[in-house]
Amino acid sequence: MTDFFSAIPKAELHLHIEGTLEPEMMVALGQRNRVAIPFASVEEVRAAYRFTDLQSFLDIYYAGAAVLREEEDFHDLAAAYFDRAAADGVVHAEIFFDPQTHTHRGIPFAVVVRGLLSAIEGAKARHGMTVGLIMSYLRHLDEEDAFATLDQAEPWLDRLVGVGLDSSELGNPPAKFARVFAASRERGLRLCAHAGEEGPADYVREALDVLRVDRIDHGNRCLDDPLLVARLAREAMTLTVCPLSNVALRNVASLDVHPIDRMLNAGLRATVHSDDPAYFDGYVAENYRAVAAARGLSREQVVTLARNSFLGAFLSDEALAGHL
Ligand code: ADE
Ligand code: ZN
Repeated sequence: MTDFFSAIPKAELHLHIEGTLEPEMMVALGQRNRVAIPFASVEEVRAAYRFTDLQSFLDIYYAGAAVLREEEDFHDLAAAYFDRAAADGVVHAEIFFDPQTHTHRGIPFAVVVRGLLSAIEGAKARHGMTVGLIMSYLRHLDEEDAFATLDQAEPWLDRLVGVGLDSSELGNPPAKFARVFAASRERGLRLCAHAGEEGPADYVREALDVLRVDRIDHGNRCLDDPLLVARLAREAMTLTVCPLSNVALRNVASLDVHPIDRMLNAGLRATVHSDDPAYFDGYVAENYRAVAAARGLSREQVVTLARNSFLGAFLSDEALAGHL
């Protein structure tokens, strides 16, 4: 469907490339690489996508990622995503990848990055899309493991735009990664962290004060804390909000009560993104379309969300000016 929501130019800032693994590709790569997955068919994979919380999703997401083994697999995964994103009006994307999900299975860091970088070259050539890569640390692992990952990234630092923090939030507060975030910043990387998705508002505050992030992923739970909301608004901190993900993982009861307009009305720099679109039934334009319909967003509010996506991007002033 080409409509206003897919036509409006936007930046995708919250997208896990492993979360774009469609069931068809999961089954095909499982066969190509002779990796057994716990599903016999595409239909069985889809049927498993009923989540009760973040962890119930992560268990399937990590199991699915096991089919990704060769450089070509990472290329094919990302190339398919960039084609979809271009059709959705994405002109700039900053995508997360989870190196530890792969290195822990014996896949070299270089295999993952080479595959992704070649797809990024293709996206530039085919769609004129600009793409930044964000290496995300898995917060259920310890900080030492994150440091080992930063070491492996050393030869590739000039190809990365930043680092992120994802996986199981509850019980893994931002402060656990204070030193590796400081080390990442010293290497010239920009910083973002998932915070306030399932975890409390305090995790959002910790991401700001201890990690000193440039961007908050999700951030919904800041709404529990009016002082924090006022601060985020004052500091023009970008929150990359993912409506279909919020509902799929039961962090928001339904789109009808999604707080996206409450966030905008509070002066927050909220933007809309897709998180893991293959698992949550919709890429970025569908996130815009669905939440706009459910919340009755005005055209002006939708334009604000798209504009905020560029304001929150890790772009040079010159590149930003070209998008506004
Ligand atoms: N990894 C992939 N998607 C995620 C999400 N929504 N929250 C935390 N970690 C993730
Ligand atoms: Zn996410």
